[in-house]
Amino acid sequence: MNKLCVLIMAAGKGTRMKSALPKVLQPVLDKPVIDYVIQNALSVGINPENVCVLVGSGGELVEEHVRKKFHSVKVLWQREQLGTGHAVKTAREFWKDYDDLIVLNGDLPLMQTESLKELIESCGKNDCTVITFNAKDPASYGRIIRKDNSVSIIEFKDASPEQKEIHEVNAGCYAFKVKSLEKIIYNITNNNSQKEYYITDSLGLMNDAGMSTGAFIMPEGDMLGVNTQRELSDVSCVMRERIISHWLNEGVRIPDTSSVYIGSDVKLSSDAVIMPNVQIYGESVIGSNAYIGSGSILTNAIIGDNVRITAYAVIENSELKEGSKVGAFVYIRDGSCLERNAYAGKFVELKNSSIGEGSKVPHLSYMGDATLGHDVNIGAGSITCNYDGEHKNKTHIGNNCFIGSNTMFVAPVEVEDGAATAAGSVITQVVPENALGVGRARQKNIADWSLRKRIIKSSQQ
Ligand code: UD1
Ligand code: MG
Repeated sequence: MNKLCVLIMAAGKGTRMKSALPKVLQPVLDKPVIDYVIQNALSVGINPENVCVLVGSGGELVEEHVRKKFHSVKVLWQREQLGTGHAVKTAREFWKDYDDLIVLNGDLPLMQTESLKELIESCGKNDCTVITFNAKDPASYGRIIRKDNSVSIIEFKDASPEQKEIHEVNAGCYAFKVKSLEKIIYNITNNNSQKEYYITDSLGLMNDAGMSTGAFIMPEGDMLGVNTQRELSDVSCVMRERIISHWLNEGVRIPDTSSVYIGSDVKLSSDAVIMPNVQIYGESVIGSNAYIGSGSILTNAIIGDNVRITAYAVIENSELKEGSKVGAFVYIRDGSCLERNAYAGKFVELKNSSIGEGSKVPHLSYMGDATLGHDVNIGAGSITCNYDGEHKNKTHIGNNCFIGSNTMFVAPVEVEDGAATAAGSVITQVVPENALGVGRARQKNIADWSLRKRIIKSSQQ
């Protein structure tokens, strides 16, 4: 195969978004628009070093994001945004030594791998090939003019009334022979209604120079551009539907598809059940037969087979292993883990804590920076006092421990295997193996106290 590279244009001002956030960083579900475009290029097997993102408007943020998430992908700057033709010319340093150049608009998150593969296969057939689609409402897309065997593009603002009637439009994906592009790129002018250099003019220039141009049509639903908040919302809806259809086909049960949101990098297994109003994002993985109850929001959550999340759980960067259960209203975060068959119940928060196999934290507890062994029972209302105002300190509770209700663990502190604590204890020292830790004032009863109080009250009336 010829040496091929991909240029993603992401420098535009995105004025129509009316937002301080650069257009290509606006989210579709849980990920910025640009991520879908870059991932598409990488998913067809293009080496990241052969992919370049051109940044400009809001470029610091875009560059930082791309470098952090897609390490080897190149970033170049277009300091002044004078149009897409100027953008491609500005990036010449990147593409000049390749044989073929794929140019993609950075605002096409719905484009599928098949379209990109077909565009790559078209390399060499023409000096330039573009992807088009038949738009129900062609709006401000560039119109495709087919004449004999050639294709050219006229931008909406420069089109005649007859040309505006054309429904076949330019998607913003181009395959160029580099040698041919070099011959005409400096001839693109800004002699048009927007005073911009259009990459779309390159086709007309190629036709005039006797070169060959072509186009193939893809479905409209894959080619929608993001230029306004309306389009961002429409694109997000299409993406959400597409992902949900995929998982329904894989045997996931989603009784109410209208209220469920699943990110494109999430993996689900067959017979998982996703109840209404659930959102699953990031690199979450959901096991077989797992039940994700209503109102739960999972981000980077690894959920094992047969896990049951009753409802309203927020789980971030944490793992629930096979057979574990989570009650309603739990918040599990920052690298926490429920081992097999463990349980975190109602109104429980776990932070950077691991709950051992078969252990239970059933009600109203906070476990932060804690490790619990297997078969531990934590009484209602128990908490770790893990933060002393400066440091986060660890609590270690061994195997088979029984923790009385409302125990405070003043960390760092340890409860050894088989030990117990009395309800209401403030534990500040090690509780040795099999001991009972009692850390509370002894109860004192004052005889007839209520009676005396009542007598005083009645004498005052
Ligand atoms: C462009 C096409 C239009 C096509 C449509 C498809 C041109 C002139 N028009 O219009 O024919 O139907 O896409 O969605 O190309 N960009 C830069 N630098 C610039 C200007 C733009 O990097 O100086 C980037 C933008 O960030 C964006 C992409 O190029 O990702 C396309 O620019 P945009 O302004 O969205 O063009 P459209 O008006 O959508
Ligand atoms: Mg656009």
